[in-house]
Amino acid sequence: MKLLVTGGAGFIGSNFIHYWLNHHAQDEIVNLDSLTYAGNLENLLSVEHNPHYKFNQGDITEIELLDKIMPGIDIVVHFAAESHVDRSIRKPADFMKTNVLGTEILLEVALKHKVKRFHHISTDEVYGSLQLHSQTKFNEYSAYNPRSPYAASKAASDHLVRAYFFTYKLPVTITNCTNNFGPYQHPEKLIPLAITNVLEGKKVPIYGDGLYVRDWLYVKDHCRAIELVLTKGRIGETYCVGGMTDEISNLEVVKRILKIMGKSESVIEYVKDRPGHDRRYAVDCKKIETEFDWKPLYDFDTYLVQTISWYEKNHEWWTHVKNGEYTNYYKKQYQE
Ligand code: NAD
Ligand code: TYD
Repeated sequence: MKLLVTGGAGFIGSNFIHYWLNHHAQDEIVNLDSLTYAGNLENLLSVEHNPHYKFNQGDITEIELLDKIMPGIDIVVHFAAESHVDRSIRKPADFMKTNVLGTEILLEVALKHKVKRFHHISTDEVYGSLQLHSQTKFNEYSAYNPRSPYAASKAASDHLVRAYFFTYKLPVTITNCTNNFGPYQHPEKLIPLAITNVLEGKKVPIYGDGLYVRDWLYVKDHCRAIELVLTKGRIGETYCVGGMTDEISNLEVVKRILKIMGKSESVIEYVKDRPGHDRRYAVDCKKIETEFDWKPLYDFDTYLVQTISWYEKNHEWWTHVKNGEYTNYYKKQYQE
């Protein structure tokens, strides 16, 4: 099999490439990534000389480039996106271009070259926000109700993928997953931000009252879920993935990180809230559990310990990221 992975130099995409080459060594992967601030080839150093792996720098909105890359591709795994809610609030247009237009162009070229599968990576954020302490969770039948520019752009991309299935019979599958964490995640996101700020002796910023809830998913469990959908998933179907922490607030997540790292809670700093901040996400994964027997391999605390240990051992990786474009972003986001 030959896979085209878009956005493979980002957090989840690079974890997926490592996972796939470890478990499907005979397959070939082409990684197409435009290397935005979030794309980092240091995530892929250990595979860069693997003859089954090829990197192409390019944008998913470049139709001529896609036309050259797509022949011979069996499966497209589409991760490429602008992925950070706070940046979408600052500059929504970038999100529309890559997430909406880019997905449409990729679908068009995939259809033209008759790929056997187009798998779209999406988010639970398309379903909106849940009440705190309710029993409600999102599932594959939840109504779309995106509330941030990021979520709206991902919702639009999901609709386009389904439109290509119904209208043109493109063989698609979609996964809507919850917040991922693990190795190679950009420190703009909560968990690596907290860990690396503690390692740098800085405060850890918490938005608003900190009582927002995310349903954290370890990135390798996510890669296993994508593998199951690619190998066993039914064409045209959507699968929700996630579900480890539907009641744990951001504040509690940060407190657990501080406890594991042996640091005082006094480093927590309450900062201005995010506009339109979604209160709670929680996902019901019954479909993927019953169809494929998928569930997270370990619990949240075990994965937090592993993730903290990865950032402790990979100081150089995250200092490069934090010293680049991120320095200016951090000032704007937290100090202005
Ligand atoms: P990321 O921001 O770490 O990586 C995105 C990658 O896409 C980067 O390497 C970037 O260079 C590349 N990219 C951006 N625009 C591009 C373009 N126009 N053409 C080619 N490449 C481009 O994102 P991530 O956290 O790895 O997320 C991957 C996917 O998973 C996204 O589609 C995101 O919406 C989805 N998702 C992420 C999470 C999460 O918690 N991180 C949760 C649910 C869904
Ligand atoms: P984030 O990692 O940005 O993911 P998302 O917005 O996609 O859920 O944020 C996770 C949660 O953490 C979210 O409720 C916002 C909150 N948060 C903070 O409290 N402080 C921060 O500095 C950041 C980046 C996020």
